[in-house]
Amino acid sequence: MPENYPIYINGQWIETKDTMPVVDKYSGEVFATVCVSSPSEVDDAVTSALRASHLKTLSPYQRYHILSKASRLILEKAADLALTITREAGKVFRDAQTEVMRAAQVFLIAAEEAKRISGEVIPVEAAPGSENRLAYTIRVPVGVVCAISPFNFPFNLATHKIAPALAAGNAVVLKPASATPISAINLCKILEEAGLPPGYLNLVVGGGNDVGDLLLKDERINFYTFTGSPPVGKKIISTIGLRKSTMELGSNSVTIIHKDADLTKAASLCSRMPFVNAGQVCISIQRLLIHQDIYQEFADLLAQETKKLILGNPLDPETDIGPMISGTEAARAEAWVSAAIQEGATLLCGGKRKGSLFEPTILTNVKADMQVVCEEIFAPVVSLIPYKDFAAAVEITNNSRYGLQAGIFTSSIEIAAEASRKLEVGGVIINDTSLYRADQAPYGGIKESGIGREGPKYAIQEMTESKLVVYNF
Ligand code: SIN
Repeated sequence: MPENYPIYINGQWIETKDTMPVVDKYSGEVFATVCVSSPSEVDDAVTSALRASHLKTLSPYQRYHILSKASRLILEKAADLALTITREAGKVFRDAQTEVMRAAQVFLIAAEEAKRISGEVIPVEAAPGSENRLAYTIRVPVGVVCAISPFNFPFNLATHKIAPALAAGNAVVLKPASATPISAINLCKILEEAGLPPGYLNLVVGGGNDVGDLLLKDERINFYTFTGSPPVGKKIISTIGLRKSTMELGSNSVTIIHKDADLTKAASLCSRMPFVNAGQVCISIQRLLIHQDIYQEFADLLAQETKKLILGNPLDPETDIGPMISGTEAARAEAWVSAAIQEGATLLCGGKRKGSLFEPTILTNVKADMQVVCEEIFAPVVSLIPYKDFAAAVEITNNSRYGLQAGIFTSSIEIAAEASRKLEVGGVIINDTSLYRADQAPYGGIKESGIGREGPKYAIQEMTESKLVVYNF
């Protein structure tokens, strides 16, 4: 019998009436079931979080202590946690191990940041009539945070929401992606063991939109932190009204290979990075812009390296690329690639699908309005686009609804500086691909890529309010 995982409300593990299967994304086997939350359980989760947020009992030092203990527990349990990620998300095991290590760091960074939350002194005495006053700001928790986490990094992206929310003194209701709920349940177990009192973290699970809709409409929730698709992000924003949020949405990220780049280094990274996690990363390279003078040489190098990648069982140490999250998603990506080919694109390599396994795919001769180029493909597919000069590369990059991160390979400090000023994105990565992320750095996009920034220090800023205090002597 597959193990059944309960939900977590007010420090209690609750077996609910309905359950839903959790599928191993490579074998297709149902390896677990998870309890689905009813409307009354969703209500209980928010009530429990609200009560905890009103208590305001955890001092910054206590939050530091709990979060740093969670970090240590993650390291102790790393192998099992990674195995769960591999099974429920299809992620190659060594990448799942990296995800777990990153989450341990995120908890540690958030723990440290809990001790550094501060406001500023405001020189109000400079205002005529305020000579006898002293003023400063303090940062206070927003209250109840609703965290809606995605399937592609089921452990670390849930951590990027929970750890800063708790560090800031908030209480959380977490709703993980229905395809990957067990990593989130593991996080609840870890925080319980680390000593988080009941109510500060609650977990609900929903198969369709019902649980999510209830959470969006619940006025007791003060803040929403979401990672997922732009359409869902827009729906959240249009439902929550004036309440605050951070939105980490999609992108069709660019990496630019300028003519003066170190081509060996660039080709080595660009032949792997578009395919990490089967391309299901928001900052995955989707558009590879290559200077026309080196286009053919670079394209040949890339195809040669990409063909060496091994697609298959994510538990096999030889495998580079595992399955996509579902056959349906892989079929969607395949349809986008077929449509592009019908519209004139050329397949340099890949393009074939078997169930949810999709070959690493490189397209050339693409046009700006093809779906594979202008929408987020979220699959192991990259399009090669030649450009004439750097100004054209900037124009192509910025001709997008999205703006999350961009990478550029160049040996020119002037071009690097110009790229950092002109590319319309939340982060410019010089001599690396768009896929680079360090967990302490601010992470987020502009345009339809989102609102606000993650990274513990920045998420804490988002999840606290500035309050002015004035003394009249
Ligand atoms: C994402 O897909 O937005 C997360 C990327 C990462 O954390 O590496």
